[in-house]
Amino acid sequence: MTSGKIEEIKLQAGKDLDCVKSLQELELFRIKYLGKNGLLTELLKSLRNIDPSQRPAFGQAVNLAKKEIESKLTEKKVEFENQVLTKKLSEKEIDITLPGKRIPRGKKHPITVVMEDLVKIFRRLGFDIAEGPDVETEYYNFEALNIPKYHPSRDMWATFWLENGLLLRTHTSPVQIRIMEKKEPPLAFVVPGRVYRRDDDITHSAVFHQLEGLMVDLDITFGNLKGVLTAFLHAVFGKDKKVRFRPSYFPFTEPSAEVDVECSSCNGKGCRLCKNTGWLEILGAGMVDPNVFGYVDIDPEKYSGFAFGLGVERIAMIKYGIDDIRLFYENDLKFLRQF
Ligand code: DAH
Repeated sequence: MTSGKIEEIKLQAGKDLDCVKSLQELELFRIKYLGKNGLLTELLKSLRNIDPSQRPAFGQAVNLAKKEIESKLTEKKVEFENQVLTKKLSEKEIDITLPGKRIPRGKKHPITVVMEDLVKIFRRLGFDIAEGPDVETEYYNFEALNIPKYHPSRDMWATFWLENGLLLRTHTSPVQIRIMEKKEPPLAFVVPGRVYRRDDDITHSAVFHQLEGLMVDLDITFGNLKGVLTAFLHAVFGKDKKVRFRPSYFPFTEPSAEVDVECSSCNGKGCRLCKNTGWLEILGAGMVDPNVFGYVDIDPEKYSGFAFGLGVERIAMIKYGIDDIRLFYENDLKFLRQF
């Protein structure tokens, strides 16, 4: 074996490459010279028969030849590929004016839209937003809201209990406690969130959404509660709607009220939606009970506050005239596309 052999192969390769006319022929060329049994590969294999003193020089020379051939091959390959592409482009014209495939666009769920609208109204009134966990402890969901263990008022909430005294929150009220534990008054927060109850029929769902509100400061009165909630209800249902406050009971507020708005369907005359009362019950509310302040170390002699809670699905049902709450969760596109 001599370096003459290498030169010979290189020369032959150059001639062969000039005759190559297609990508397929180029592949045959590659196999002939660089393949597993190709000429150059064979040459490298023959190294072992060479005088050891000449091996390094010879090996280097073969590898150099190999690189040269490889780079020429790559050049040729790119050339062919470009030819193929140019040919394709000239034969098949692409009509760039054809309309593309329409990608279906998702949109917000009606409950999300209503929730965002409600939150927006309170933001305009100066409220901040807070959130809390769906899995709660008994302490936050009940105890600190002045609902002791074994007290009959716990029956107001059909609770999903988990292990170790944990539960799925039955209302967003526990977030009131979490806010007051962390922050000093003045406080003005709304809390959007998902809540859970062992309940379901055409107006109740085991999972639904509430918006909670809390305002605590010096000299907050029932008048402030009435003012804020009236402004809110007028923003949602229209300024012409009457609003009324009825005495009620919640363990965490004293006094407590339920807030009704004039029926949006019959304007107070009485219909199926308002069960002939002329009124729609929208909110639970009241002045924060001093016992609740006791759990979060806020001095009830110095501060006072009001709180409220409402069901988002209920407002959405009234707003859109939907009589079955389950429609919101069935993911029927024919239903959802109407919003
Ligand atoms: N948490 C109550 C419920 O789920 C609603 C409620 C009533 C919240 C009065 C309040 C409130 O903050 O003051 O039934």
